[in-house]
Amino acid sequence: MYKILESEKLADNIYSMIVEAPRVAKHCEPGQFIIAKVDEVSERIPLTICDYDREAGTIRIVFMPIGASTMKMRLLKTGDAFEDFVGPLGRPSDLVGTPIEELKKKNILFIAGGVGTAPVYPQVKWLHEHGVTADAIIGAKTKDLVILEEQFKEVCNLYVTTDDGSYMRKGMVTTCLDDLVHKEGKSYDLCIAIGPMIMMKFVCKMTKELGIPTVVSMNPIMVDGTGMCGACRVMVGDEVKFACVDGPEFDGHLIDFDQAMQRQAMYRTEEGRAKLKQEEAETHHGGCGHCGGDK
Ligand code: NAD
Ligand code: FES
Repeated sequence: MYKILESEKLADNIYSMIVEAPRVAKHCEPGQFIIAKVDEVSERIPLTICDYDREAGTIRIVFMPIGASTMKMRLLKTGDAFEDFVGPLGRPSDLVGTPIEELKKKNILFIAGGVGTAPVYPQVKWLHEHGVTADAIIGAKTKDLVILEEQFKEVCNLYVTTDDGSYMRKGMVTTCLDDLVHKEGKSYDLCIAIGPMIMMKFVCKMTKELGIPTVVSMNPIMVDGTGMCGACRVMVGDEVKFACVDGPEFDGHLIDFDQAMQRQAMYRTEEGRAKLKQEEAETHHGGCGHCGGDK
């Protein structure tokens, strides 16, 4: 069992939990995810790690309840425990494998949308701890939905924007990016964008035009997180990839977001899943990633 040391509501329908999971905390890197299971009968919930403390042996997760299992998870209180809390899973962010001296030469921009702000945080923090201070845009629909602002301020140059203009800048993250580049003279060598699919689609469209290489996280399309269900199958250029095994981060300019969103919608129904299974045949799922699978 994995004890919840702190459970907190960050904003309307956004929750944060600090969970005792020493082995995950010891080995995880920014960009990786865990799978939580509330009890024996609950579904597996893949969530990108928001923060970790190796000394305390804890992991912070932030989530937005949308299905039955995350609704159940929302009801857990400080002192309760998860039946399972498995990780770290997925590949760490490419930043972690890049020489620091190389990163120091780059102007790096993070773009975080809504609850997707949480998985951006460990990357920004990791860079700061290694002497690289990046720019970051946090976008939220409205003031009350801006999360982790204080934590971000400590580790980067932060720009906050709200769709309705109720706090700081007005407009979506793409408006802020456009302003930074075209009105404020900023230039970037790398962008890491994490948020709703539609946000990542439009950020990639803009960064492609601006010539800024962009990395996105395909965590939203994951279901079981094991490589076996086929939910997170995504075309990256001409290649079939699985977000939970090969990602979750990919080159955003190689992703066909319309196709990924259409597939995500199809995967929600039994009929859609059967159709995808038939169409995609042996490439429908990817194997667990540990045994070579049946890719
Ligand atoms: P939201 O709908 O409130 O959007 C957040 C911000 O994204 C907006 O404020 C806006 O700035 C930007 N945005 C939205 N639509 C846009 C568009 N068309 N063009 C440009 N920018 C746009 O976000 P939310 O409700 O907090 O997000 C929930 C979604 O985030 C879920 O679908 C979830 O799956 C996803 N999510 C993604 C990740 C990831 O790893 N990519 C992680 C956690 C959550
Ligand atoms: Fe099921 Fe990746 S989430 S295959």
